[in-house]
Amino acid sequence: MHNEFILVKKSGPLTGQVLVSGAKNAALPIMASLILTSGVSVLKNVPHLTDIESMVSLLEELGAKVEANYAMGTLTVDTTLIHSWHIPEYMMKKTRASIVILGPLLARFKQADVAFPGGDAIGARPIDYHLKNFKKMGAQITQMEDLISLKAEKLFSQRFVLDYPSVGATQNILMAAVLVQGVSCIVNAAIEPEVMDLIGILQKMGAQISLEYPATIKVVGVKKLHAVEYSIMTDRLEAGALLIAAAITGGDITLPNACAQDMELFLMKLEEMGHEIIVDPQGGIRLKSSKNPVNVSFKTAPYPGIATDLQPLIMVAQVVSNGKSEMIETVFENRFLHVPYLNLMGARVEVLGSHKAVIIGVKKLQGATVIATDIRASCALVLAGLVADGVTRVYGVSHWWRGYESMDQKLRDLGAEIEFIKL
Ligand code: EPZ
Repeated sequence: MHNEFILVKKSGPLTGQVLVSGAKNAALPIMASLILTSGVSVLKNVPHLTDIESMVSLLEELGAKVEANYAMGTLTVDTTLIHSWHIPEYMMKKTRASIVILGPLLARFKQADVAFPGGDAIGARPIDYHLKNFKKMGAQITQMEDLISLKAEKLFSQRFVLDYPSVGATQNILMAAVLVQGVSCIVNAAIEPEVMDLIGILQKMGAQISLEYPATIKVVGVKKLHAVEYSIMTDRLEAGALLIAAAITGGDITLPNACAQDMELFLMKLEEMGHEIIVDPQGGIRLKSSKNPVNVSFKTAPYPGIATDLQPLIMVAQVVSNGKSEMIETVFENRFLHVPYLNLMGARVEVLGSHKAVIIGVKKLQGATVIATDIRASCALVLAGLVADGVTRVYGVSHWWRGYESMDQKLRDLGAEIEFIKL
């Protein structure tokens, strides 16, 4: 919809307290994991986002009955009548996360007919780590243009060594392996908090999963998993965005349900910029901003490194801090699409190659009309609007709806001037 945009005005210091929503990137694979069970499960703390609605449609397409009560943050999912292993291409294209349906389908039916997933254009995003390990597990894979079919007589436990700790590949292999007889190991596994949350629900379903040195997830196959009630973790990416919003506006905010352990290195770097971080041992994070922040270099990396999904937002903080810094993006090769728009607003960011940006802090930004190209870029541009003189119009609103639940309301509650405009 090109007649929709987010209007952001320069806002004073954000202050106050807001609750962080459930994590999209934990909820999506967790919803897919319900395919491994037969019965009625209840998921709590589920954010209301278009990516979640897309995953609900995928589950319904397979035969699940889903009752969504987004006001309460619950999804009640009855997987008893799941009968299909086929997902139409148009549904797969709606999100990248649709790929994590493959592992559970393979486990339940020993077959799956899907298409290459869609999602943000932040890199080539191949799925070779997923497919080669399904092959190692015993699946035969046929590929016809954009369609992929997997079929196995039997699945075998193996030692799966990942080329890179891919979040999606780890989740997919894990879900395919939990019902496979014997001991499977995923070596060089992703250990992101969202992967741990998936392990949490699988364990509650009855799966036997443990973590071993070095970054290895060990699975002892069980015969059956049962339906569960499970509450999704809070969103560390939303928490990070809110903390940066406070940092750049000279604010002081508290996020009572944010988990500091999920973002320790990120918090440490905010402290290095001069902001005060107070972690409540009972849970919760407070940020008291520095009036004169210094520019600090960041590097994204798999957890416990700094999340690539925070990179565009951190860059906004770098753009308005004193001095020069670098941002090294090590996870994706096309994740600086927000930079031309930040520069249009008066930022001084130079992209060098596909993985490095050099940032020279500026005293002020000017409001502009900008276009969000992916979920995290949409939030970065909104945050930049909070500190830009005048008015910023952020188009590409669909990306925002995919990833941030009531974030505009939360920012307003903290004092930001932001509203949705639909012409
Ligand atoms: C997940 O994507 C997240 N998505 C992404 O968040 C996040 O940026 C990413 O993990 C990294 O943390 C969801 O959880 C739904 P990867 P995923 O497999 O699983 C390469 C957001 O904004 N790779 O860890 O797709 C890949 O190209 C989104 O919410 C292969 O080469 O990420 C990338 O360079 C955006 N082959 C790197 O690994 C493969 O088979 C990490 O990707 C798989 C991945």
